[in-house]
Amino acid sequence: MFPHELKIRNLTLRPATLLAPMAGVTDTNFRRVIRGLGGCGLIMTEFTSAEGVTRSAAKTLRYLYYDADERPIAAQLFGAEPGVMAAAAALVEDLGFDQVDINLGCPAKKVVKCGGSGLLRDLKQLESVLAAVRAAVKIPLTIKMRSGWDDASVVAVEVARMAEEIGIEAVAVHPRTRAQGYSGQADWSVIARVKQAVRIPVIGNGDIRLPEDAERMVAQTGCDAVMIGRTAATNPWIFRQMEQYFSAGHYDQPSEADRYRLLADYFRSLIAAELPDAIGKMKQFACWFTHGVRNGSELRHRVHSSRMPEEVLQRVDEFFAGVVKN
Ligand SMILES: Cc1cc2nc3c(=O)[nH]c(=O)nc-3n(C[C@H](O)[C@H](O)[C@H](O)COP(=O)(O)O)c2cc1C
Repeated sequence: MFPHELKIRNLTLRPATLLAPMAGVTDTNFRRVIRGLGGCGLIMTEFTSAEGVTRSAAKTLRYLYYDADERPIAAQLFGAEPGVMAAAAALVEDLGFDQVDINLGCPAKKVVKCGGSGLLRDLKQLESVLAAVRAAVKIPLTIKMRSGWDDASVVAVEVARMAEEIGIEAVAVHPRTRAQGYSGQADWSVIARVKQAVRIPVIGNGDIRLPEDAERMVAQTGCDAVMIGRTAATNPWIFRQMEQYFSAGHYDQPSEADRYRLLADYFRSLIAAELPDAIGKMKQFACWFTHGVRNGSELRHRVHSSRMPEEVLQRVDEFFAGVVKN
């Protein structure tokens, strides 16, 4: 049975599904797309530098912008200095976020030096960070971690126990090591072991492509909720499909017209937001999304050869004109 809801203290996620944080993807525009399609219990920001927000760097603060209709929403922070992380978490609370999450997974070289999965190699430092953040905020506090640094140091169970003791209220597990990056398969047995070890809710993450995968993850691991990353970018309907599947046993597939509308509306919202990196975001999103579109490589090519955001939109319109009848 798929869990109907997840309670993280005073916060109820219904259904028990979460959008994974994805740097460069899950910005406010994309998050609103996901909210609009329905079926997602909690939305998360991209990871945000605690150093950046405490220095009030305008560029970093932009990552913490959200719209009221995205709620419930969690902000994800990364950093390794307890005082800085505590101050950043307090700011997140002041901004009205429903939850704060600490990133213990990012594999990027620049990030591991100052947090992310780097903290999985220094559990003493990690303990200080978690304790300082816990003392700084009243809103629910969660962590999202990889299984460990490498195969020789899988620390997920140890970290989950430590987190529970400190008062962290849920833990999300992406069971790949830092050394693995995104290669191979997520080892769901690590999620099961974490679930056995703690009483706080455990959120399973990694390689869910279909509603049936989410069902399998819950059955195999006993996790209390599932979190979805890459599939949300290739198939933003996944949350709605899961909701349909778990209530009715089957789910709808988006039509070509649905895909066109979603892509064109999302790109229009990026243009309207006047983002300096709109074209880059469009190309990146097209890389993911067009894998779900018939003849998607042709659309990908058209998007990638565009130079201006408006040109991208025109190419999208042209591509779908041959496919979608109004
Ligand atoms: C482009 C991209 C950006 C990501 N950015 C973040 C991030 O900011 N914070 C984080 O905790 N994980 C990040 N992740 C990891 C995802 O949240 C997730 O744990 C991982 O992709 C596995 O889940 P999936 O198989 O459902 O994609 C990122 C992943 C991708 C592909």
